[in-house]
Amino acid sequence: MFTFKIEPDIVMRLFERRHAAELCAFFTENREHLGLELPWLAEPFDEGDVGEYIQAGLDRLAANQGFRAGIWQRGALAGCVSLHGVDWNDRKASLGYWVGQHYQGRGLVTQCLQAVIAHAFDDLGLERLEILCAADNERSRKVALRLGFQEEGVLRRSWLRQGQWVDQVLHSRLRERG
Ligand SMILES: CC(C)(COP(=O)(O)OP(=O)(O)OC[C@H]1O[C@@H](n2cnc3c(N)ncnc32)[C@H](O)[C@@H]1OP(=O)(O)O)[C@@H](O)C(=O)NCCC(=O)NCCS
Repeated sequence: MFTFKIEPDIVMRLFERRHAAELCAFFTENREHLGLELPWLAEPFDEGDVGEYIQAGLDRLAANQGFRAGIWQRGALAGCVSLHGVDWNDRKASLGYWVGQHYQGRGLVTQCLQAVIAHAFDDLGLERLEILCAADNERSRKVALRLGFQEEGVLRRSWLRQGQWVDQVLHSRLRERG
């Protein structure tokens, strides 16, 4: 499965079932930090559940619908980037991402997404990429803008997040035409 070296000490690698124990420990440590984005972390979970989460990413790849890759820094699991919601008809897809609480502020997501974006436009031939962030998720919105995405608008009350309606901001980046 693919491994992509971003920098000597940063590697992006497809999540495989053999990563279940490592990812389970990571989720346990970052349960609160990632809880809004991955609400199932609030429920009890074990290595088997995390294995299924990983399998869903592999199934996505097998169906040619994107992928979910882990980010490792100096050999330690630090986060994840994903391509999902691929619409081959209209040649667009969405990006997802998260890093562990103590891995924020290092540019890991920005650097890995730069490689994913190049792959999506240059290899997959997609025309449009989207990032959807909760309006109150300042860090995530900064990631989108840092990567050259434009804000297209606010989707009002579009996410029932832990029982509370929140607005989401839609960002997009288009393939550059030469
Ligand atoms: C959203 C989230 C991934 C952002 O993490 P992040 O570390 O701020 O994002 P990046 O990896 O792009 O790092 C950017 C930061 O690293 C710094 N940085 C350091 N080296 C850098 C480099 N080489 N390139 C870019 N930025 C770099 C930037 O200055 C920036 O710091 P600042 O925001 O304090 O100015 C993180 O907060 C998170 O996982 N949140 C919970 C899950 C979530 O909300 N996911 C998004 C759902 S839409």
